[in-house]
Amino acid sequence: MYSNTEQRHLFEQSKHYISNEKKVADVQQQIADLIKIIQFHEWKYYVKNDPIISDYEYDTLFKKLEALEAQHPELLQKTSPTQRVSPDLADGFPTVKHLTPMLSLANSYNAEDLNGFDEQIRKLTGVEGDIAYCVEPKFDGGTIVLIYENDELYRAATRGNGTEGEEMTHNAKAMRSIPLNAAFSEHGIYKAELRGETLIRKDNFEKANQKRATQGKTLFANPRNAATGGLRLKDSSEVPERGLETFVYQLSYATNKDGREVLNHFPTHHESIEALDRLGFKVPTIERKLCKNIQEVVDFCKAWEEKREGYDYEIDGMVVKVNSIDLQEECGYTSHHPRWAIAYKFKAKQATTRLLNVEYQVGKIGSITPVAKLEPVALAGVTVSSVSLHNEDFITSRDLRFGDTVLVERAGDVIPYIVKAMDELRDGSEKPIIFPKFCPSNTKEQVELVREEGEAVWRCPNCTCGVQMLQRLIFHVSKDGMDIDGFGKSFVERFYHHGWLNDISDVYNLDFDKIRNLEGFGEKSAQNLKNAIGKAKQNSIQKVLKSLSIHHLGKRASQLIAGEIEHVLDLKDWDEERFLSIKEIGPVVAKNIIDYFSNTTNIEQLQRMEARGVNLHQTEADKKKVLITDGILSGKTILFTGTLQKLGRKEALQLAEAEGAKKLSAVSSNLDILVVGEKAGSKLKKAQDLGTVQILSEDAFLKLIEKEF
Ligand code: IVH
Repeated sequence: MYSNTEQRHLFEQSKHYISNEKKVADVQQQIADLIKIIQFHEWKYYVKNDPIISDYEYDTLFKKLEALEAQHPELLQKTSPTQRVSPDLADGFPTVKHLTPMLSLANSYNAEDLNGFDEQIRKLTGVEGDIAYCVEPKFDGGTIVLIYENDELYRAATRGNGTEGEEMTHNAKAMRSIPLNAAFSEHGIYKAELRGETLIRKDNFEKANQKRATQGKTLFANPRNAATGGLRLKDSSEVPERGLETFVYQLSYATNKDGREVLNHFPTHHESIEALDRLGFKVPTIERKLCKNIQEVVDFCKAWEEKREGYDYEIDGMVVKVNSIDLQEECGYTSHHPRWAIAYKFKAKQATTRLLNVEYQVGKIGSITPVAKLEPVALAGVTVSSVSLHNEDFITSRDLRFGDTVLVERAGDVIPYIVKAMDELRDGSEKPIIFPKFCPSNTKEQVELVREEGEAVWRCPNCTCGVQMLQRLIFHVSKDGMDIDGFGKSFVERFYHHGWLNDISDVYNLDFDKIRNLEGFGEKSAQNLKNAIGKAKQNSIQKVLKSLSIHHLGKRASQLIAGEIEHVLDLKDWDEERFLSIKEIGPVVAKNIIDYFSNTTNIEQLQRMEARGVNLHQTEADKKKVLITDGILSGKTILFTGTLQKLGRKEALQLAEAEGAKKLSAVSSNLDILVVGEKAGSKLKKAQDLGTVQILSEDAFLKLIEKEF
């Protein structure tokens, strides 16, 4: 339909119109451009399921077109996207007319917009004091319209074009969250029309997709598609299986036995929702608030914007409704939306930007992490200009190239990441990203990188340039290491560059007279640092062990080993057998520790630490902790299947073993956890059939063991 060149051109043009850079004097030309651009984005969104701009950007373009058409009605075209109420009706289901037209909502994006809305309501109603609003989530699923007659579910339909929808009563009846009977008659209502949204919970969505993968079906792009598709299933027996649920958010029509309207039987929206709750409908509860004034509305909307990720369902904003039904009536409607309600749209989680460059960072054990430098872009409230690309496979599997336009996502607290490159926007000038063969930080000599079998990362095995030492120093003093209060990365870097920190034992030999005289340091901060270091010298040896940056020696293994030794240097005499005699310690960690303690430089470093006052003797804490804590996966069996994106298989297994898990080689009733990567096959299917296995995605696994990648 559109060639790459056309797509690129339309995308560039959209950006210009969105940022107001486009100065086209001719209004007719502007309208023609905007129509073309919007049609293109609608095709990307609705037909291809692959949008390349955010909802916010789309709305901006749409509003621009609406404004121009309003100023120049003579230029309005019948086929303008603004003249379309909603996506076309598809065939296959009978078309039915709604009892009241289903309008859309006006949008707002910030406190200022909401205050403007409040002002407008005041003008429309003449109210001078505070106006009460009911605020609830703007669910991101499929709209459903339910009609009850004589206390029975009579009909259900989709939104369709707002006036008419597709009848799908059979599917509504298959949803247990929709009551088949509801005692509306108790409220004097004979016929009622309700609006709601059919959704799929995020975890059910994951499960549905995993199942589809095993069946070789195409995956749903997002929970909304899974829900809207679910509403229109021909075979309603699939509905419960898909986990569809319906929230009801509006009583839009109510008449009594004589056909007289009784909508104002409930004086407020809040009361009508409470009544629907009592009648057995699923309504928003903790996510809904009756706000005394617009300030409470703003606070509630912002609070939900913060916690949207932790919510079980996809929501893309909040809906603010005037609470009093009388006041709603006074406000009335425009041809497009009610004047008494407004949607507060959350900031986009996704944005497009350009991949400018890739830098390679060297970690404390020499792992090389590629980091993409991006053209800065605003994403869910922060500016993002660099994101981790994890490892070489991440780059190759997504075919990322220099100069690519990339889609970046930031979901909640999760670190931003690149979802994909938009190859439809390439012009041929993009260059492949070639992972380095040699250590990128060592300019003096060429140190060849190595990638061990089963690992996803390349490492610099033999560091002579000091970068790894600097990283080890930063880790040693950090919260996860010796937890030296106030000793941040920037201090480490400064001291290191002054030549005061050559290895970790130097942390305990700093000259505070010199530090006191450093710019930005005073007597007090130097003294605080000295005290914090003094305190850390008394740390338990499990902390000391963990702070040494021995590959794979994490918190759990450090605890276990600390419980078995009297002094850290006892480990000099430990052989593999001795390590393996500790349940939960595997051969790889054992080998890494043995290697570490057979290196005299390391031994001397530990001896210097001890001479400088660091405790290397087992403490009470070392004995105690082991007795009472268990690895998070202790006693569990685990198996990995499919291609993991961030971890190599071997690494994944080591991480699991470090937390106490045991690997199984096949799916059976003895299996507790199956971690699924991409293109998982029969193992996943078998685990699902068993129904007793906990199935985790790679990210869920990393989250469980608290590893950030
Ligand atoms: S009220 C007359 N409340 O947003 C206004 N709509 O309306 C009726 N939506 O596709 C809409 N959550 O399905 C309202 N809590 C909520 C909503 C909500 C989601 C959807 C609705 C429609 C779109 C615009």
